[in-house]
Amino acid sequence: ALGLHSQVDARANDSTKVEQILAQAHTLYKDEKSGANADYIPALAKVDSEQFALALVTTDGKVFTRGDIDSHFSIQSISKVFTLALAMEQQGPAAILDKIGANATGLPFNSVTAIELNQARSVNPLVNAGAMATVSLIEGENAAQKWQAISTWYGQFATTKLAVLEDVYRSESSSNGHNLAIAELLQSYGRFYGDVDINLDIYTRQCSVGVTTKDLAIMASVLANGGTHPISGAKLMSADNVERVLAVMSTAGLYETSGEWAYTVGLPAKSGVGGGIIAIMPGKFAIAAFSPRLDAAGNSVRAQKAIDYIAEKAKANIF
Ligand code: DON
Repeated sequence: ALGLHSQVDARANDSTKVEQILAQAHTLYKDEKSGANADYIPALAKVDSEQFALALVTTDGKVFTRGDIDSHFSIQSISKVFTLALAMEQQGPAAILDKIGANATGLPFNSVTAIELNQARSVNPLVNAGAMATVSLIEGENAAQKWQAISTWYGQFATTKLAVLEDVYRSESSSNGHNLAIAELLQSYGRFYGDVDINLDIYTRQCSVGVTTKDLAIMASVLANGGTHPISGAKLMSADNVERVLAVMSTAGLYETSGEWAYTVGLPAKSGVGGGIIAIMPGKFAIAAFSPRLDAAGNSVRAQKAIDYIAEKAKANIF
């Protein structure tokens, strides 16, 4: 009985500690003003830059939150992680390596040069080129079936149905020339695996999915827990595929600054130009942070700082 009590106390203390760490991270960076909202997608420029939220979900299913936790924002590039997960489950890891790639580009997320410098192919599934090609690998007879598969899959990770932010979707669709050019370029090299317009539209839709910071942390917790959902209990991915997704996040999750991130923070992570970032401590927890102002690489300034702080305090570093 004594043993059991001390175990319960230790867990309660852990919870208090996590709450304190999130509160401290929020206080430390709430006045941070550097960076700027993404503006190449007009709808993102209008988002309230002051929003700031943090969430942490443990592999035993505890959820901690702080800040503007009800704010919905577009998932953007963080979606690439989950579509990659689905494509890998459907096609197997060898197909991803062969058809998409798994190296770092060292170049911006929408780089055309990266394709040209790498034998006329996409380099990894977390930059725009590879992410659009990954969408083209998702199974489905037509656009509606493919979108249904992706949308259902995201919902299983989030444990709730996620809705597209229609204003973001329309805004991005009407300013999508650069991604269209990338997809056409890949198609011309035999490195796109379906109709360009259909798959570009699905990609744009998946980037416009609205999430809260808590939704993101819940989605990311599956990757912290070897593919089994800590909350729903559903087995969504094989543990082997989780390892591969985390490997690509480590090398490419924060684009050209992924190396510095690994060096300073040491957690596989993925950012989106909506201002969200997820980070994974395998076997322990997932963190999500959101704030719209981005650095030059397109990564949220406050989210990076807050995750760095939380990881440091929780002594979390995979290396
Ligand atoms: O395709 C785009 O440019 C956006 N929908 C997503 C880019 C993005 O989130 C890059 N992230 N940091």
